[in-house]
Amino acid sequence: MSKKSKTGRGEFSSRFGVIAATAGAAIGLGNIWKFPYITGEYGGAAFLFVYLIFIILIGFPITLSEFIIGRKAKKNSYGSFKKLAPDSSWKLIGMLGILAAFFILAFYSVVAGWGVGYVYESIIDSFKSQSPVQLNNLFFEFIKDPYRPILFQTIFMLFTGGIVYFGVKNGIEKNVKIMMPILFILIIALDIRAVTLPGASKGLEFLFNPDFSKLTSQAVLVALGHAFFSLSLGMGISLTYASYVSDREDLLKVAVSVPIADTVIAILAGIAIFPAVFAFGIAPESGPGLVFITLPNIFLQMPGGYIFSILFFLLFVLAALTSAIALLEVVVAFFHEELKMKREVATVFAVALVTLLGMVCSLSMGPLKDFTVGGKNFFDSLDWVASNLLLPISGMFISAFVGWKLGKGKVKRELGKGGHHVSPAFLSVFVFIVKYIAPLAIFIVALNGVGLIKI
Ligand code: PHE
Repeated sequence: MSKKSKTGRGEFSSRFGVIAATAGAAIGLGNIWKFPYITGEYGGAAFLFVYLIFIILIGFPITLSEFIIGRKAKKNSYGSFKKLAPDSSWKLIGMLGILAAFFILAFYSVVAGWGVGYVYESIIDSFKSQSPVQLNNLFFEFIKDPYRPILFQTIFMLFTGGIVYFGVKNGIEKNVKIMMPILFILIIALDIRAVTLPGASKGLEFLFNPDFSKLTSQAVLVALGHAFFSLSLGMGISLTYASYVSDREDLLKVAVSVPIADTVIAILAGIAIFPAVFAFGIAPESGPGLVFITLPNIFLQMPGGYIFSILFFLLFVLAALTSAIALLEVVVAFFHEELKMKREVATVFAVALVTLLGMVCSLSMGPLKDFTVGGKNFFDSLDWVASNLLLPISGMFISAFVGWKLGKGKVKRELGKGGHHVSPAFLSVFVFIVKYIAPLAIFIVALNGVGLIKI
């Protein structure tokens, strides 16, 4: 059984455990296949600079807001708002987050399943002597297949469920404490390989050379949107994890570590990928194409490519797994505490539901591709609704809740628990940001995301 706190709920037993879990939730596919690409595309160091400002100015304050709400209430995302603001509609915000987590996990697990499939393909050396066109076909045939992606997605979900099943301390904490250091070692190994390739410096230039002419208003919005996505905000993840953090813990220190770890890993991922891409003279892309087509092409030509291909896809699956665990925990905590299911039953139930929805997502690449919503297949519509609607709305209100509803006094008390000092200047700036700046910034990104304004 998990260690129980005074409230009878599970509790993390160490600071490293909390940080590994929350940083693991943030570090995911976005770090590996999106951040490096958008950085290169929108002006390298110039973009990075704007991104860092958003991480500090918006990302960190909302992460901290989720931490404050969760630890103060010690409940799941819905229950926390219900407890802190009884008889009000705030709890709907918690509900939105849970719904977003549920949707995201459904399609995230499909992509993670592709990763599991590619670990397998790497091991059996399927990329050997394939032409770029054949590698392209290999990927598209694979994702269109009615069975194989579903098999790998199910394996991935069983793994995720198998960890969450054992609770916060014996399931989640115990596993992420091992997985996060492995993830770090894998990425460093891939970095060393990439930067020692002849011609690697062009890739580093693509990533880091500041080019302010590419820093358009569009780039600024992309930076803010990505800061939000990368920190997994708005889904009640940090909120739910923080509800298992002891009152003695220095919340501020934990909350600061998450964006730092997330950003460091994103940069390390860029260093692992682009020098390799440029060393072999291949045009960079982003998203699935980068990971499942471009990289196998590179591994084929790279000395030691067989082993680095396995390591890379393992890294990919690990990064996805630590995020999936967090997403599942958001849903399980809700089923357990609000619908009064036993935790174990809640886990099995949630895994079953998510896997079923994920199967529909997976099939929408092939057999169900003609079933579209608003011109998008099911996979893309779920992604669109969660990323452009649910997340920003929930993130905006989470921030506003801490600024307006809890206010400075309660924030101070929560951060000061356990005798930790909070500087008054920090407090004022933080409350000002979560009251005005963050909600407004998210609102603008959201309007742009749904196409109501075009920046
Ligand atoms: N933050 C994750 C990433 O960078 C994405 C994610 C979003 C994961 C929401 C879980 C929930 O890939």
